[in-house]
Amino acid sequence: MTEDPTVTYQGPERVLSGVQPSGDLHLGNYLGALKKFVDLQHRYETFIFVADLHAITVWQDPKLLAAQTREIAAAYLASGLDPQKAAIFPQSAVTAHAELAWIFNCVARLGWLDRMTQFKDKAGKHKERASVGLYTYPVLQAADILVYKATHVPVGEDQKQHLELTRDIAGKFNHDFDAPGFFPLTEPLIQGPGARIMSLRDGQAKMSKSDPSEQSRINLLDDADAIAQKIRRAKTDPEPLPEAVEGLAGRPEADNLVGIYGALANRTKAEVLADFGGKGFGVFKPALADVAVEVLVPIGQRMRQLLTDPAELDRILESGADRARAVADPVIAETKRIVGFWGA
Ligand code: AMP
Ligand code: TRP
Repeated sequence: MTEDPTVTYQGPERVLSGVQPSGDLHLGNYLGALKKFVDLQHRYETFIFVADLHAITVWQDPKLLAAQTREIAAAYLASGLDPQKAAIFPQSAVTAHAELAWIFNCVARLGWLDRMTQFKDKAGKHKERASVGLYTYPVLQAADILVYKATHVPVGEDQKQHLELTRDIAGKFNHDFDAPGFFPLTEPLIQGPGARIMSLRDGQAKMSKSDPSEQSRINLLDDADAIAQKIRRAKTDPEPLPEAVEGLAGRPEADNLVGIYGALANRTKAEVLADFGGKGFGVFKPALADVAVEVLVPIGQRMRQLLTDPAELDRILESGADRARAVADPVIAETKRIVGFWGA
């Protein structure tokens, strides 16, 4: 059913990713996604959007949605994305995403979507009351990626299944329409210590916007006192830190805090333990709070400053959308021709 793997994609390498404008960004979003975008923009043609089409798969107040979109744009810029390098834009401003999503709805199989764990988590017990959009959400995500023929997608580990689906859709489209190598088989960029940041209250649960406890996450807009206080209260165990990474096994909270330190300070867990092995959390937590404050407080301050000038943010989003359309429009035109639509 899928494409001949010997026929490989020949086009340019491109990076694409997006974050939904649905709630405050936290440390997991920063380390799993935003920080990686900033590093990649220097090496690849980069497209970073605000996923407003995805956000409305659950109810969003129409009076707040545009402001939430600017807030994510401000977080991108404050984290270090350069709008001269990366195209930064709202997903809904490039209509080719939704057009390609429809075509992909007719390529993807129900059985593939039935396996998606995020739908099961988000829909909860009453799946008959979830929007149809929530179900087909990963198909839109595949369209986001492939409408730019993106070859690399930086995301946190929770998106792995959606990236696998994207490859399946690309392979089936190329095969069914006899268009070998038309869409690339996109590589996820997930590795690194920031890929799965856990809750500060429970080392087995992901740090998440939807966790009811504010103490579970550090938000990008938290001030220095809030950051230090959340780290001070973070759950730990009574043992000192181990000398080697193997000693973190079975200690999820310790493992998470060492991983956060490493991701913030650009060091491996082994390097962090070389400094802190044998020391207790009474020593480690204040040091962690210091690096977290040093990295995050300037980002929060810059975000606040950018949000005072919404017109400037809108200019950046509009020019990003122009650049995005210049790439996406020819791809959707060619896709429609391949499908055989009238006039295409
Ligand atoms: P979301 O908040 O679900 O829109 O996620 C935006 C980006 O942040 C995606 O690439 C996620 O994979 C990533 N992300 C969300 N939560 C975490 C986490 N706890 N650890 C690492 N990455 C995360
Ligand atoms: N589903 C992603 C999330 O919840 C957001 C997203 C939408 C995305 N489209 C994408 C990420 C395309 C990467 C590529 O975080």
